[in-house]
Amino acid sequence: MKAVILAAGKATRLRPVTLTMPKALVPVANKTLIGYAIDVLKSAGLTDIGIVVNDLESPIPQALGSGASMGVHLEYIVQAEQLGLAHAVSLCRDFVGDEPFCVFLGDNIFQDKMEQLFNGFAESDDESAIALGEVSDPSRYGIAEVTPGRIERVVEKPKDPKSNLAIAGVYLFRASIFDAISRIKPSWRNELEITDAIQTLIDDGHRVRPYILRGWWIDAGKPDAIVLANQLVLEELPYTPAPEGRDQIIGRSEVSHRVILGQNTQIIDSVIRGPVIIGDNAVVRNSYIGPYTSLGDNVQIEGSEIENSIVMRNCVIRNIPGRLDSSLLADNAQVVSAQRMPATHRLILAENSYVQL
Ligand code: G1P
Repeated sequence: MKAVILAAGKATRLRPVTLTMPKALVPVANKTLIGYAIDVLKSAGLTDIGIVVNDLESPIPQALGSGASMGVHLEYIVQAEQLGLAHAVSLCRDFVGDEPFCVFLGDNIFQDKMEQLFNGFAESDDESAIALGEVSDPSRYGIAEVTPGRIERVVEKPKDPKSNLAIAGVYLFRASIFDAISRIKPSWRNELEITDAIQTLIDDGHRVRPYILRGWWIDAGKPDAIVLANQLVLEELPYTPAPEGRDQIIGRSEVSHRVILGQNTQIIDSVIRGPVIIGDNAVVRNSYIGPYTSLGDNVQIEGSEIENSIVMRNCVIRNIPGRLDSSLLADNAQVVSAQRMPATHRLILAENSYVQL
């Protein structure tokens, strides 16, 4: 079975981070979101993967290449105009051929590896199988009404939801979905909705099987959701003892268990309380790094405190009073204090930036 990961969206809800970085490459515990999708597919034995991007020049092909380093084979499919998920799937016709295939939304991250969704689908009588997760705000999602073993109806963002089971962004289809897509019309948001194509399969009398997710699932479309995903993934770091006596830990430092340090990273006169992950060539000096923090490569933290945050590559945080919490800093961002009078606040912010002083 092949798979396609949809990663062509504009990700406006994650700006300014996504002004320069596609959502799929946003790091959670120092691994890209799309890396988690590839892991799930790989563990289900799906290694032939098409990635739908909005441009071949997108940073996604540059970052992932042929996939060889991850043990998968990647091909790229271009969706130049964002006309909806069903439109993106329709562009994958030649890539998937006539075999059953998986569609995976690249911005969703799961605790569940979903073996039972994938196992046996190809040989089954099911026309489609769909991962569903319970949500508290069903009108934000595609919603499924189910009876045992069968999805009876699906509705995209219903005003009056009849269930709290949301379509969670992992779908198994057969070639019949392409004909269903060719028969749907754009929705109120002017998109061809994959949910409407699934309803067409149901209307045609086909069986669409529900798979109820175990554990957490995050639609990582907004900054808060990314920070939460980071917390949940770090929570699952396997136990590692406090790294004592390593030459990376210098001066009066205290580093707890469940702290992963990259190569050439130095912790100088600082306290690190895991779970924390720090990339390569970072320097933490005279600082406190609290639980659920991910620091990327080449980050420099000095005279500051931070917890429950994502700090991406090459960021600098220096001499900040108070503690930074639940923050998301994209590559090369700097947060520094004024070293001379007047000690003013000076901000250079991109569209949709958020500062809480
Ligand atoms: C899309 C789908 C929706 C699904 C959701 C999961 O919504 O249309 O059915 O529940 O992904 O993340 P969108 O992110 O486009 O609002």
